Amino acid sequence: MTIVSTKHTKTFAQRDQLVQGWTWAVTSKELGRGQVKGVRLLGRDLVIWRGEDGVARAADAHCPHMGAHLKEGRVDGNGIRCFFHDWRFDAEGHLDDVPCLDRAPEAKLKMWPVAETLGLVWVWPGDEPTRKPPYVPELEDDECDVHVLPTFTERCHPNVMLINAIDEHHFNSVHSLPVDLYMSTDVVDDTTIEFANTTSPKEAHRFARVLQPFYSGPLTYKMCYHHGNTGAVTVGPDLAHFHILFALRMTDDGGTEGRRVLVTRRRKGLRGKLLTKAMLALTNVVGDYFADGDSQVFESIRFDFAVPTKADHAIIDFVRHVEAQPAVRFGEWTAA
Ligand code: FES
Ligand SMILES: [Fe+2]
Repeated sequence: MTIVSTKHTKTFAQRDQLVQGWTWAVTSKELGRGQVKGVRLLGRDLVIWRGEDGVARAADAHCPHMGAHLKEGRVDGNGIRCFFHDWRFDAEGHLDDVPCLDRAPEAKLKMWPVAETLGLVWVWPGDEPTRKPPYVPELEDDECDVHVLPTFTERCHPNVMLINAIDEHHFNSVHSLPVDLYMSTDVVDDTTIEFANTTSPKEAHRFARVLQPFYSGPLTYKMCYHHGNTGAVTVGPDLAHFHILFALRMTDDGGTEGRRVLVTRRRKGLRGKLLTKAMLALTNVVGDYFADGDSQVFESIRFDFAVPTKADHAIIDFVRHVEAQPAVRFGEWTAA
């Protein structure tokens, strides 16, 4: 098996460059119409606001006049007005009003592409997005209800945190689960890669006889990664699949800031709504179960994948996939 030490990767688990992909910025809920927020994102200070038209927009944070942070300003129409001298920038970031002048000078905010899905506002670190925003494969064409949990932080790199979900052996060692998983790899495209367990409950689990009737195929456990920074886990019996999205971003010190999003298909009517509530509550329990125990590893790991084994095959596939994706420099967002 090839050695893939991170001493030799250019993007995976590196601090100075990362995959160019949609990155979560704020939650949809915390950005109401007419609201403005400041966010530190992949080494840049951004201002994000939602215009009267309901559309979220993002720009570099500091006003081109004297550098005031625009999060102190206010939304005006679909644009934003700086708090310091009241300059107004329109929805595309063009300066279009300077109260003390008849004609506004030429000035423009550096705007960044924004998408909104699964309860999060995502920013593309580049001029033109070349990929669609993250999705949950089984629910790609459905309307969904979500519950976004509070921001969490970890001291390790987002890539390292994400591979935990396909680390077959750690389910036994860290989570004490009596399972025997084998994750098959499916490269969907150059930015999305899926892993799915192939072992049946009978092969995979000590309580197989109890579980078997609930699964027509393998013991369902799947992970779909987008842009090397976001992963959607699907787990559960045929009757009720639970979906949890992990949206991560790298902090200035090389750690992780993330959001866990519980996702379920939208159901109609009162019964549907109650069922949705119950599903989201159950998904939360499942999510907690998975998250428990890993933090202890993330706290002190100094990731160096120097001796990979056969059981690490899925992780190796993920590392290779990340390495092959277009990357940008942290903070600069220019091609690496
Ligand atoms: S610093 Fe923004 S208008 Fe002067
Ligand atoms: Fe884990």
